Amino acid sequence: TIPVILDCDPGHDDVFGLWLAAGHPSLELLAVTTVGGNVPLEHTSRNARIALTVAGVADVPVAAGAAGPLARPLETAEWIHGENGLGGPELPEPAMDLDPRGALELMADTLLGADEPVAIVATGPITNVAMLLRDRPDLADRIREVVWMGGSTGRGNATPYAEFNALVDPEALAIVIESGVRFTMVGLNVTHTALVTAAVRERLAAVGTATAAFGDELLEFFCRTNADVFGMPDGPLHDPVAVAVLVDPHVVTRVHTRLDVELAGTETAGATSVDLDGMLRREPNAWVATALDVDRFWDLLDDAIGRLA
Ligand code: BDR
Ligand code: CA
Repeated sequence: TIPVILDCDPGHDDVFGLWLAAGHPSLELLAVTTVGGNVPLEHTSRNARIALTVAGVADVPVAAGAAGPLARPLETAEWIHGENGLGGPELPEPAMDLDPRGALELMADTLLGADEPVAIVATGPITNVAMLLRDRPDLADRIREVVWMGGSTGRGNATPYAEFNALVDPEALAIVIESGVRFTMVGLNVTHTALVTAAVRERLAAVGTATAAFGDELLEFFCRTNADVFGMPDGPLHDPVAVAVLVDPHVVTRVHTRLDVELAGTETAGATSVDLDGMLRREPNAWVATALDVDRFWDLLDDAIGRLA
């Protein structure tokens, strides 16, 4: 099993990432950290605990991290995720408190306490991971790899060329890319093939657990807002794709390439520049996912959810 820390901003699709990480037997979820993103930190920190509570997972610490990006005001996405970040189902009270340590301290303790390097999957603005690498460079070799949902090899979803997580904190993304830690970007070019079709929803409902039923209510809302905002009634379930890469490295095709993020563009801040054709002649610095085995992905996710409450 691969030990993993999940850093997230739930958010509907983050919840499925949490469930995949908590439920799949090939991962050991050691800690969850939260960041302000889809909605402010207070909500994401509560929603992460609600997601674990629904799934019957009580033994994973959850700690709150950065309320906003390193150098910009926080932009949120209530129009997709609702005012509380998990529009749709009635939300239970979380069964656990937040860990009194902050996210950085929990990450550091987890990395130091594990007997092998720990993977970090980030499914929100990557602020916490950047702060960890900036403040504790001594811990870099305790990190097995970082897999991040964000960016795009093509167009964006928050501005014409920027994906939401990249747009919110591009300075953090630049720090992580340049850190030297093995980094994989799972962007919109791939997650836009993880579409929540009617068949996908039927399969999930057939899993039959309380977690699956709660998930179906989340998807109902998420597909409706994606239809309203993007004209995509089969909403793309971005975040669990990044977790799936850790469960099965072959679920995506990856290329080793040059990745940069635009920090100063007048219209393109947060755009990811992925040099797939080697035009820049710079050293590759990241792995970038270019294709997804969609059926395999849904199999992994349904299997994990079926193992939860
Ligand atoms: C990303 O932005 C958020 O709204 C989702 O949770 C996902 O992490 C997709 O652009
Ligand atoms: Ca997210």
